[in-house]
Amino acid sequence: MAQIFTASADAKLRLFAGAVALAILMAGALWWSAASSSYRTGVDWVSEQPVPFSHQHHAGELGIDCRYCHDTVETSAKAGLPPTETCMTCHSQIWTDAPMLAPVRKSLATGEPLEWNRVARVPDYVYFDHSIHVATGVPCKTCHGRVDLMPLMKQAKPFEMGWCLDCHRDPAPELRPPSEVTRMDWSGFDDDLAAHRDYGALVVEARGIEPDRLDDCNVCHR
Ligand code: HEC
Ligand code: HEC
Ligand code: HEC
Ligand code: HEC
Ligand code: HEC
Repeated sequence: MAQIFTASADAKLRLFAGAVALAILMAGALWWSAASSSYRTGVDWVSEQPVPFSHQHHAGELGIDCRYCHDTVETSAKAGLPPTETCMTCHSQIWTDAPMLAPVRKSLATGEPLEWNRVARVPDYVYFDHSIHVATGVPCKTCHGRVDLMPLMKQAKPFEMGWCLDCHRDPAPELRPPSEVTRMDWSGFDDDLAAHRDYGALVVEARGIEPDRLDDCNVCHR
């Protein structure tokens, strides 16, 4: 049979095929490492919920304060998830027949709470407390991201030990007046990082926070 490709074209083809195979392998490896790291940390994962509750709609567009629904965030370790009655203060008046809200009406009728799938969590052996962070002026946004722009809740930060420690060792630049912690778009220091840091340094001093004590193991592992 006549040779279809010249010897040099054949070599080029082989080289090309080799390069394509290599590129596919590398893309696969990249995808795998990216997917497995976000799988491990949970960042950006969205989970299935009994009702497609939108923070973007309720907290963002309607402007309902976080504390209206997460009402123990200032006083206890847990922020708390709202009981069905909280939804019904509005949804007994508006969207009363919406099929999307059927599980909410059923929950009210039967007294069985909605079973939300948890998104933001740390392992049981880690101690976390919302109230102390909120009282010090650590914003919700720093740990949960722009919740007001999330149609469905997702985890914004990795919640790994190193991430907690980075802030514990130098919290000043993260702090703002406690009255503003729930404001997602707050820009009280107008992006003036030095002013922000100065404010934070005053809080650290006033509250007697010792960053070299805040990374002791027994702060978070009790
Ligand atoms: C302060 C009033 C208020 C509360 C409290 C409230 N909602 Fe809503 N909700 C609304 C309004 C207003 C709409 C939008 C209706 C429209 O689109 O015009 C809405 C829409 C919805 C929708 C339709 C989809 C969407 O987001 O547009 C769902 C689902 C929903 N709410 C679920 C809930 C659940 C679950 C709770 C309790 C955790 C809750 N709501 C609490 C006022 C409220
Ligand atoms: C109208 C009630 C309502 C308001 C207002 C609201 N939330 Fe929520 N939030 C919920 C409900 C219901 C869930 C559980 C369903 C879900 O994860 O979307 C939830 C879940 C969350 C979660 C995930 C908890 C977990 O581990 O599963 C975080 C974080 C959160 N909210 C933060 C906020 C912040 C920050 C604000 C203010 C910007 C806010 N929420 C305002 C009702 C509300
Ligand atoms: C310093 C970081 C940090 C800040 C600030 C913070 N959270 Fe959280 N939040 C967490 C961690 C960590 C968890 C997981 C806790 C667990 O697994 O017990 C969590 C869990 C939650 C949950 C799940 C339910 C529960 O009872 O814990 C909600 C809701 C929530 N946060 C809302 C808020 C709101 C609203 C604010 C602001 C007022 C806020 N958080 C500020 C780190 C933070
Ligand atoms: C953005 C900054 C920031 C992040 C992120 C953060 N913290 Fe904190 N945390 C603080 C500050 C500031 C204090 C000290 C509050 C005070 O003493 O006024 C604190 C205090 C605490 C305390 C109480 C310490 C005591 O005095 O007993 C615990 C527990 C804690 N943090 C756990 C965690 C865990 C677990 C994480 C990660 C999941 C975390 N924190 C992430 C800023 C942060
Ligand atoms: C500011 C809070 C905080 C402090 C302080 C802290 N840890 Fe942790 N630690 C965490 C969190 C959150 C996790 C879980 C997430 C993770 O595995 O990174 C964790 C996980 C761990 C794990 C399990 C790791 C794994 O891969 O399963 C060990 C072991 C540990 N910590 C030891 C320590 C020791 C030892 C110290 C003191 C030198 C310490 N931690 C101080 C927050 C903290």
